[in-house]
Amino acid sequence: MEWIRQELENIKNAHLYRVRKSKEGFLDLCSNDYLALRDHPEVISASAQVLKEYGMGSGASQLVSGYTKHHLRLEEKLAEFKKVPRCVLFGSGYLANLGVIPSLVGEGDLILSDELNHASLIDACRLSKAKVLIFRHRDYEHLEGLLQANRYSFRRCLIVSDTVFSMDGDVAHVKLLKKIAKDHECMLYFDEAHATGVLGATGRGGLEEFSESWDEYIIIMGTLSKALGSYGAFVCGSEMLCEYLINKARSLIFSTSLPPCLCAGAEKSIEIIQKEPERVKHLKTLAQRIFENLKRINLEVSFHNTPIIPLMVYDEKRAVKLRDYLLNKGILLQAIRYPTVPIGKARLRLTVNIRYSESDLEFFFSQLREALKHC
Ligand SMILES: Cc1ncc(COP(=O)(O)O)c(C=O)c1O
Repeated sequence: MEWIRQELENIKNAHLYRVRKSKEGFLDLCSNDYLALRDHPEVISASAQVLKEYGMGSGASQLVSGYTKHHLRLEEKLAEFKKVPRCVLFGSGYLANLGVIPSLVGEGDLILSDELNHASLIDACRLSKAKVLIFRHRDYEHLEGLLQANRYSFRRCLIVSDTVFSMDGDVAHVKLLKKIAKDHECMLYFDEAHATGVLGATGRGGLEEFSESWDEYIIIMGTLSKALGSYGAFVCGSEMLCEYLINKARSLIFSTSLPPCLCAGAEKSIEIIQKEPERVKHLKTLAQRIFENLKRINLEVSFHNTPIIPLMVYDEKRAVKLRDYLLNKGILLQAIRYPTVPIGKARLRLTVNIRYSESDLEFFFSQLREALKHC
């Protein structure tokens, strides 16, 4: 097993070595639970009640005995929230992408995928055995060109895009993608992991942000693990699509279903967002305010009106140094490097969370200024 030691050495030499850090005691500036719902008292209480009644795990896959009224209620709640006919739950976002995309397309079909799509989408596209063409990031002219040249040499076609890009925080042009997909008779798959609870005035996601409605050829995947503060994922579409996924998506069929207590917690989170849409608004204004402050700091900051704000460092070694400096001061802000982002595009990925206090932010800004002087 000498090769493993050598591989690890290579990773270290490239400043790409990863270690896990227990977050206790740190000011956490990089979690994705943007709306601070994961420890909301009503969410904890709803989840704890079901935990007491059902125990910890679900015991089996959805099709065996792992499906309860809490799964059904959450699916119905999600469909109502997202304004789509139906939703189906999956064990995680990764599992949803891996299960759904290969169910929709296979050999003889075509996938058009944005170059900055999440790793789970990339893996899902590869797993599908469809021909995959990558279009330049948010370059929809390039996408159209690829479609004009290739679409009708293939049977089915699927366009795949993150709605909010997870490492850059920018947003896909949902309206334009809808038109392109319709014009070229494609299915359109949106990964709304970071758009759910974030985009649109009430947090419904990309369609609300662009004042667009759902249509049958649109498939929306979202996670429960980010703004909804739980764990797991869902896929929305037509009644028929959902029935099809229940019968075909291998990661749904062959994997234990979500614990009922997580479903109850996520259902409560959606209720809170519906009751208190000001949380979504607050997230947007806080993100804007944080960006205004960061603009005064000597670092390139990228901002697209979402809670994902990358502080661009580019150099991997410096990104790690900055991260370690901040860690020493009690701040957890991860250095994102290859293979999550391309080589030479390392960054500190700040995520905005409505739980941040004024003093947290003041402390962070001052420590970041110091870090930039020292690293
Ligand atoms: C865009 C995107 N898609 C999918 C996933 C995977 O979701 P999960 O963490 O639920 O597996 C993530 C999360 O990390 C993500 O950022």
